[in-house]
Amino acid sequence: MPSLVKSLQAASAALAAIVPLASAVPAGFYPRNVTGPSKPKVILDNDWSTAGFITFLLPLASDWDVLGVVSDTADSWALQTGLHALATLEVGNLSCIPVYKGSDYPLIQTEERFQAWEAVHGVLPWEGVFAAKNLTYEAEGNDPTSGNPDRISRAAFFEGFPNTTFASDTNAANFMVEQVKKYPGEVSIYSGGALTNIALAVRMDPDFAKNAKELVIMGGYIDVNLLQTSGSVMQADLNSDINLIVDPEAAKIALTADFPNITIAGNVANQVQSTQDFLDEVYEVKNVYSELMYNYYGTTFPFWDETAAAIILDPSIVKNSTEFYLDVDVAYASPSYGNIHAYQEALAPPNVRTVNYVTEIDGAKLKSMIKKAVQYPKTCAQL
Ligand SMILES: *[C@@H]1O[C@H](CO)[C@@H](O)[C@H](O)[C@H]1NC(C)=O
Ligand SMILES: *[C@@H]1O[C@H](CO)[C@@H](O)[C@H](O)[C@H]1NC(C)=O
Ligand SMILES: *[C@@H]1O[C@H](CO)[C@@H](O)[C@H](O)[C@H]1NC(C)=O
Ligand SMILES: *[C@@H]1O[C@H](CO)[C@@H](O)[C@H](O)[C@H]1NC(C)=O
Ligand SMILES: *[C@@H]1O[C@H](CO)[C@@H](O)[C@H](O)[C@H]1NC(C)=O
Ligand SMILES: *[C@@H]1O[C@H](CO)[C@@H](O)[C@H](O)[C@H]1NC(C)=O
Repeated sequence: MPSLVKSLQAASAALAAIVPLASAVPAGFYPRNVTGPSKPKVILDNDWSTAGFITFLLPLASDWDVLGVVSDTADSWALQTGLHALATLEVGNLSCIPVYKGSDYPLIQTEERFQAWEAVHGVLPWEGVFAAKNLTYEAEGNDPTSGNPDRISRAAFFEGFPNTTFASDTNAANFMVEQVKKYPGEVSIYSGGALTNIALAVRMDPDFAKNAKELVIMGGYIDVNLLQTSGSVMQADLNSDINLIVDPEAAKIALTADFPNITIAGNVANQVQSTQDFLDEVYEVKNVYSELMYNYYGTTFPFWDETAAAIILDPSIVKNSTEFYLDVDVAYASPSYGNIHAYQEALAPPNVRTVNYVTEIDGAKLKSMIKKAVQYPKTCAQL
């Protein structure tokens, strides 16, 4: 199957030199220039949304090769978040980047299990995909939660519903395994959502983690319990770890695997807030992405996923960080189920490893990276 895809891509590469969009080429498989100099490579796994595209514009702006985009179930189901990835790539003529739909379900977590845990330990301010199903809320333009993972809420596609389709040569986890085999030591794995697909890849291939270049994630807050009580519910929301809690077992597998380097953008992801002034500034240059950002990014949330992406692209953005042994609490009976726990070497349990925990970044630099990426996005013709 992969060789069929390759010859299809080679054939369409020849065609593309003459016609920009050959009608014989299936959607999502437009050819890319693979003869150019080798660029740093990244696979982006995220729970994509209408305004989630900055995390793929950033690596493209830094001249990285985005080998592919993977969707996961975290804020909504992997189908809906993957369709957002397809749509937000399409609006910018970036459909040459393949999108793989990730696992529908976390490894163990389910709606019933999650809600039963909340009944014992307290409700999370943001429940992500496991918020109770509410079709009225979905019809108002929100992504689907709970119920059937195949459910699509078209009203949530403010960017347009995609006309392209998921890559179908393999599944998301195996795509990551194959790319790491193809480019050993070169592929950065980015996760801005739950770690389900990455855990599956780790378990499928014992060499996957050690042959990747690194794993960089958004999520993994630490010592924020007081902040969950001493401010508004929104402050608690900004300090709760939905990415890990949606799939605690996957988080433990991924964050204890033998990646050469693991970097966590947890608390630091709250450092740089989206503001109206900044949205206005970016919108001074008008294009499809600056318009979507202006209309849909909002000023409620900080640049969470963008912070983790920027750390991959330019590690000099890190102003302060620490290193510790990390584990993820997978005890269902625990109020910190799905939260990380840090240890010093002398006290760490077996089978955990050290991670880099970023505590401060250069916020002005992050904003200038975002501004450049959104104002002057690349298209497939320039990749
Ligand atoms: C592919 O990239 C190489 C090196 O950057 C360049 O010389 C060549 O013109 C590119 N080919 C196409 C079809 O864009
Ligand atoms: C797909 O095509 C339809 C019809 O042309 C258009 O309305 C829609 O915006 C397109 N979707 C995207 C994501 O561009
Ligand atoms: C995408 O390509 C079409 C057709 O070439 C062009 O009209 C449109 O302006 C491009 N859009 C972007 C965002 O580059
Ligand atoms: C469902 O969503 C609607 C619209 O946002 C809201 O008014 C209603 O209270 C929600 N229902 C439940 C049970 O939360
Ligand atoms: C691991 O990543 C961190 C953060 O980007 C960086 O400071 C460190 O140099 C990296 N270590 C190795 C061994 O690559
Ligand atoms: C880095 O963070 C640690 C812990 O918060 C702090 O003690 C230290 O002063 C910081 N270093 C710099 C250079 O800001």
